[in-house]
Amino acid sequence: MNQLLDKIYETKVLEDSQGNLINPFPTATPYDTGMIFKELIQKNHLERTLEIGMAYGLSTMFICQSHHDKGSGSHIAIDPFQSTMWKSIGMLNIKRAGLSEKLQLFEAFSYEVLPQLLAEGKKIDFAFIDGSHQFDYTLVDFFYVDKLLEVGGYVVFDDIWMPGIRKVLYFILKNRGYEIVVNHSDISWKKRVERTARRWIQNPLERDHNGIRFLPLNICVLKKISEDNRPWDFYRSF
Ligand SMILES: C[S@@+](CC[C@H](N)C(=O)[O-])C[C@H]1O[C@@H](n2cnc3c(N)ncnc32)[C@H](O)[C@@H]1O
Repeated sequence: MNQLLDKIYETKVLEDSQGNLINPFPTATPYDTGMIFKELIQKNHLERTLEIGMAYGLSTMFICQSHHDKGSGSHIAIDPFQSTMWKSIGMLNIKRAGLSEKLQLFEAFSYEVLPQLLAEGKKIDFAFIDGSHQFDYTLVDFFYVDKLLEVGGYVVFDDIWMPGIRKVLYFILKNRGYEIVVNHSDISWKKRVERTARRWIQNPLERDHNGIRFLPLNICVLKKISEDNRPWDFYRSF
C-alpha cells in the first residue's frame, strides 16, 4: 500500500512528532477496512472523497494513497480535534507518507463544515462517516453527505456494532434510495459469529432491515441509487 501504512499495521504503533510510540488501535481503521476503501475508490474511479473523523489519519492515508496510486483525485477530512486531542499526528502521518497535496483538512465540527461545502456547490463521490457516533450527529452527517453525494457514489458508516449507528442505517434503507454493497472479506466465520452475536445480544428485539446485524465487518457500505424524490409527507417506519 505505502511503506508507512504497512509499518504501522505490522508494528501496531506510530510515532508522534517527538518520536514517542503510540498504539493507534482500536481508534484507527483496521487494515481490511482500509483495503475495502482502496478497492472501492480505485475500481469505481471515485475522485472526490470526504471523511468525518480523522484522528491518527490511518483511514485518511488509505484514501489519499488510493488517489495517489490512480494518479488523480482529492480528499477532504473534517476533524475539530486534529491539533488538540490528536496532536496533529494524522497530519504528520500524511506528510511523512508524501500525501499532503491530496488532502484538505477542516479543523471544525462536521455540522459546521458540511453546510459550508454544500453552499459552495461541492460534490463528492465517496464519504466515510466516522466522527461523533451519537445517533443525532450521525444522522446529521448523513443528511449533508447525501446532499453532497452524486448518484452512484458511496457512503461508508463505521462502527455498526453501535445500536445508534444501525438505527441511522435502518432509517436510510427504509426511507431513501440507497442499497448495501456487501464486501468480500476473508474474515473468519468465528469472528463473523462473534460480531453478529454481540449485535444481537445488545438488543434482541431490534427490527433489523437488510441483515445489517449479519454484515461481516464493522462497517456498512451504501451505494446511492437515486436522488431524493420522496413526496413531502413520505415516511416509512424503521
Ligand atoms: C474513531 S475516530 C476516527 C478514526 C479514523 N477515521 C481512522 O480510521 O483512523 C473519531 C474521530 O471523530 C472526531 N470527531 C468527533 N466529533 C466530531 C464531529 N462532530 N465532527 C467531525 N469529527 C468529529 C474525533 O476527533 C476523532 O478523531
